[in-house]
Amino acid sequence: MSVAAKPVTGLRDAHGRVARDLRVSLTDRCNLRCTYCMPAAGLPWLPGPDVLTDAEVVRLVGVAVERLGVSRVRFTGGEPLLRRGLAGIVAAVAQLRTPDGAAPELMLTTNGVGLDRQAEQLRQAGLRRVNVSLDSLDRERYATLARRDRLDEVLAGLAAAAAAGLRPVKVNTVVMRGVNEADVVPLAEFCLARGFRLRFIEQMPLGPEHGWDPAVMVPATEILAQLRTRFALTEAKERGAAPAQEWLASAKGLPSGRIGVIASVTAPFCAACDRTRLTADGQLRTCLFAHTETDLRTPLREGAGDAELAALWQAAHLGKAAGHGIGRPGFHQPARTMSAIGG
Ligand code: 5AD
Ligand code: SF4
Repeated sequence: MSVAAKPVTGLRDAHGRVARDLRVSLTDRCNLRCTYCMPAAGLPWLPGPDVLTDAEVVRLVGVAVERLGVSRVRFTGGEPLLRRGLAGIVAAVAQLRTPDGAAPELMLTTNGVGLDRQAEQLRQAGLRRVNVSLDSLDRERYATLARRDRLDEVLAGLAAAAAAGLRPVKVNTVVMRGVNEADVVPLAEFCLARGFRLRFIEQMPLGPEHGWDPAVMVPATEILAQLRTRFALTEAKERGAAPAQEWLASAKGLPSGRIGVIASVTAPFCAACDRTRLTADGQLRTCLFAHTETDLRTPLREGAGDAELAALWQAAHLGKAAGHGIGRPGFHQPARTMSAIGG
C-alpha cells in the first residue's frame, strides 16, 4: 500500500497531547520478585493462548508505527528477556517505517539478568538502547529486595550492554525509605564512573496487594538532598515529554554526568505525556493508571484490518485521562500491577 493511502492523524487525546511513544509488554512473567512489584510467590500469569504471538505483536506495533506515527517503541515486561522471540520481534519492528519514512527508535527495559548473553544479538537486531533496573549495589540488599541473589548477573548485563553499543545505558532505581536509601550515593558514583545514566524513580502505587505507602516513597527532593551530600548538581534541561528531570552531577575524582529523578508522584509529568501502552495479552492502555483497557487482540484475531485496528486505537486514545491523580481523593490503584502493564 502506498504511503499516501495511509491517513496520518496520529494518536491524539482530548487534552491536546499526541502519543509517539509506545510501551509494549512482551510477557507478564519475571525471574525476579522485587518486593515493591510482586509477591514472593509471583502472580497468576497470563494463560499462554492469551499472550500475543510474535507475529501479532509485530502486527500491532506496525499499526502504531505505520498508521499512527509512533516513533519510539520500548519493549518491557515483566522481564522482556524471558520472551523467546525477542530478537526476532526487535528485528521485525526495526523494519517498520513511520509515515515520514523514519525507522522507529527501539529500546528495552530489563532487569538485566541474562542481558550479557543477549546484548550483542539484540543490538544487531536493531535495538538502540536499554534501561536496566538496579536498586542496590549491595549484594545482600539486592537479594533481599529482588528476592533473588542475581546482582552479579545484572552487573555483567550492564557491562555487556555498554560493550555492545546499546548506549547511553540507563539505570533505573526505585528508592524506598528504610530499604535502599543508603544506595543512592554509591549507585550514582558507580554510574558516573561508567558513563551510565542513572535515574531515580519515586515509587508509585502499582505494586502487589495494593501495599503502596506514601511514607515509604522517597520524594525527589530527598533524593536530591542525598545526592548533594556528594555531588554538585546543576539542572540540565527542560524535560519535555521525558519523565526524568535531569541534573549534571560532578564530584572530585569522578567523570561528571547526568543523573535523573523521575518524580512521578510529587511532580507528575502527565501534562506532557506522549505514551501509549500495549499489554502482553493485546490490551491497549492509555495510561499506567487507567482503569479501562481496549481489547485489540480479539479484533486482531477475528481478522480486523490495519485501518480498523488503528481506528480502535485512536478512539481509545481520545479517552486518555488528563493525569493519574495519585494522592487525590478518589484515587485507586489499577487492578494490574506494573509487571503486567509494562513499565
Ligand atoms: N513504582 C515505580 N517504579 C516501579 N518499577 C516497578 N514498579 C514500580 C513502582 N511501583 C520500575 C522498575 C523498572 C521500571 C520499569 O519501573 O524498577 O525500573
Ligand atoms: Fe521483575 Fe521488574 Fe517487577 Fe522486579 S520490578 S519483579 S525485575 S518486573
